[in-house]
Amino acid sequence: MVHDGQSGARVVLLTGGAGFVGSHTAIELLERGDSVVVVDNCVNAVKGGDDKPVALQRVEELTGKTVKYHEASMLDCEALDNVFKQYKVDVVIHFAALKSVGESVDQPLRYYGNNITGTLNLLQAMSTAGVKRLVFSSSATVYGTPQYLPIDESHPTGQGITNPYGQTKFMCEQIMMDLARADPEWRVVLLRYFNPVGAHPSGRIGEDPRGIPNNLMPTIAQVAVERRPNLYVYGNDFETVDGTGVRDYVHVVDLARGHVAALSKLWSKESTGTLIYNLGTGQGISVLQMIEAFSRACGKKLAYKITSRRKGDVGTVVATCELAKKELGWVAERSLEDMCVDTWRWQSNNPNGFSI
Ligand code: UD1
Repeated sequence: MVHDGQSGARVVLLTGGAGFVGSHTAIELLERGDSVVVVDNCVNAVKGGDDKPVALQRVEELTGKTVKYHEASMLDCEALDNVFKQYKVDVVIHFAALKSVGESVDQPLRYYGNNITGTLNLLQAMSTAGVKRLVFSSSATVYGTPQYLPIDESHPTGQGITNPYGQTKFMCEQIMMDLARADPEWRVVLLRYFNPVGAHPSGRIGEDPRGIPNNLMPTIAQVAVERRPNLYVYGNDFETVDGTGVRDYVHVVDLARGHVAALSKLWSKESTGTLIYNLGTGQGISVLQMIEAFSRACGKKLAYKITSRRKGDVGTVVATCELAKKELGWVAERSLEDMCVDTWRWQSNNPNGFSI
């Protein structure tokens, strides 16, 4: 039976489904009644007793449903082909990628290999299996240094990207657009995330970076739980409300629901070729405002030190998400307070993340 995409159980393959955005998306899909297959190589995940990532065990516990899990690298073409032989996949959401900006500068071949070759392998496996519906986990990083604000989807991409991680997101977008141009049967949605933060309100799953976190929210959360000693604010001389960097933070549950909205779009009549949407709130929050909001959420004043700007950082990055509202019917509903309260619940209940 050909799926209409709107009702009933779809079989959704999540690459990188054990990760931060992937695991939250799995919950939303399972709650909607879809069936979820995850392929993940587990390089950034903690495994539980039965070798399944702990994040997925908790997704199962929260939803009462089963996640089919295959541990495989996107570089393993045979494993990918086998997954498509095993399941009648309706649509793929491609999250799997290495994502540390600093590491990508030091290890460009590993990043290009994993993120580009991995994506090519996935697209090839999908073609072979005749699965031509795809949602891609892209990033505001493709816009490079903002030329105007707020950033809409027509903003130029690929200019002024300062690191291989960002380049891989841009290149993957190009590859998918070329593919959709060459074969009109492909339906692709590129979702450009702004700054994903927060956690599931249950406090059972959340962001669990390996090693020292690069990003602001996990750093604040680990300082609040006293896992890390210092919170540094990178620069207070930007042209912003208080001199510190302003970003568009979006709650991961809103983001996850954005993927569900994008899936429905893939079956609609007007969906042809590649569709592109920003996912953010449209609201700019400074580093100091975030620290203040988090202090309120965790009930203690967080000490910080102002230090020099981080290389490559810009003052303000804020989206307009009018297109997602108009075409997907999606808006971010969760507030800054929700982002902080939910992150704190996750971090304080799991000070070491998924590791016991
Ligand atoms: C970063 C990445 C971006 C990636 C995104 C994922 C860079 C240059 N960009 O974006 O490619 O898609 O994460 O969420 O790394 N800050 C501090 N102290 C900290 C950490 C951050 O003051 O310890 C500041 C930064 O200077 C920035 C803001 O907090 O102003 C947000 O930083 P971060 O969370 O790293 O996100 P981005 O830099 O926007």
